[in-house]
Amino acid sequence: MSRSQFVSVLAAEDAKFSKGSPFVDILFQTEGYAGSAVTLELMYRHMAVNDPRLAQRIGSHLAYCESRPSTHAVRNRAKSAVELAIPVVNSFLGPVDVACYAGGTGLFASMLLPHLNPRRAAEVHIRLFDMDPCAVLAAQRRIRREGLENVTTNWTNLLSDRAFNTDSGYLRNRFVFAECLGMFDYLPDGLTQSDIKSGRALPAYGHALQKLFSTIRSGGMLVVGNFAPAHPDQAYMELGNWPLILRNEEEMERLVHEFGVLLPYRGDTVAFERVEGAEDTQILMLLSKGY
Ligand SMILES: C[S@@+](CC[C@H](N)C(=O)[O-])C[C@H]1O[C@@H](n2cnc3c(N)ncnc32)[C@H](O)[C@@H]1O
Repeated sequence: MSRSQFVSVLAAEDAKFSKGSPFVDILFQTEGYAGSAVTLELMYRHMAVNDPRLAQRIGSHLAYCESRPSTHAVRNRAKSAVELAIPVVNSFLGPVDVACYAGGTGLFASMLLPHLNPRRAAEVHIRLFDMDPCAVLAAQRRIRREGLENVTTNWTNLLSDRAFNTDSGYLRNRFVFAECLGMFDYLPDGLTQSDIKSGRALPAYGHALQKLFSTIRSGGMLVVGNFAPAHPDQAYMELGNWPLILRNEEEMERLVHEFGVLLPYRGDTVAFERVEGAEDTQILMLLSKGY
């Protein structure tokens, strides 16, 4: 069965995901796209809403979403990034910077800091970068609510050079650890013919990867996440207006080579790992380890 046939079968069988259903309208389209701050916060709160009237209206949809592997996978990839960050952050001495690229509502910062001993945590400056003002506002609320010191937000588009030219100078060699989860699945491999013809030539996957790598300090690590092909929630996510570009290890490796992505230091390596606990959505992590 082709993917489009499968999508239409699922849509026919599951009215929750038909176009115009309250769930799709309220949750997936409020802010124009499915990975929005609203959807993320719901996932991180295990799909719970405070408003009882809204809960009554969309309760069964929330329960359905909560049961989906992709919801668990989004939460689990954040946990995996934290587990990868702890030893790296602890292996450096003195004050260090950590980046959450496309950091959304700031969950990574709030998960990482309690895992560090308080003296170390006080030396870690976490910088969150996101282009969605709603996500940045949600992250700022989280920072205030949880009293997260040394966590700052940058409202910026990571596809522009300006994102890396901050008040404290260009971000080259700045971070001991950086994670970017849930952004690369939206970026096309390169420029399409129609992009070039229409002059809408946005830098995509390879360019963004190169920029992110350039900000990593020697001995640091960059972690990039991407959903892998043929996961069981592909149709469900597409119906929810969440069309991702799925990539496997070979595909990601090919892109690194094809774009000539330069690793910052001699001896750095790129490895691809499937995330533990990502259910069968097979989220891929691209790891750069530099020593
Ligand atoms: C699916 S969410 C993931 C958020 C967070 N990494 C997490 O896993 O909870 C994707 C985030 O990427 C941000 N984003 C997408 N493209 C971006 C870009 N070009 N520059 C900055 N942020 C971007 C979105 O605004 C959104 O908050």
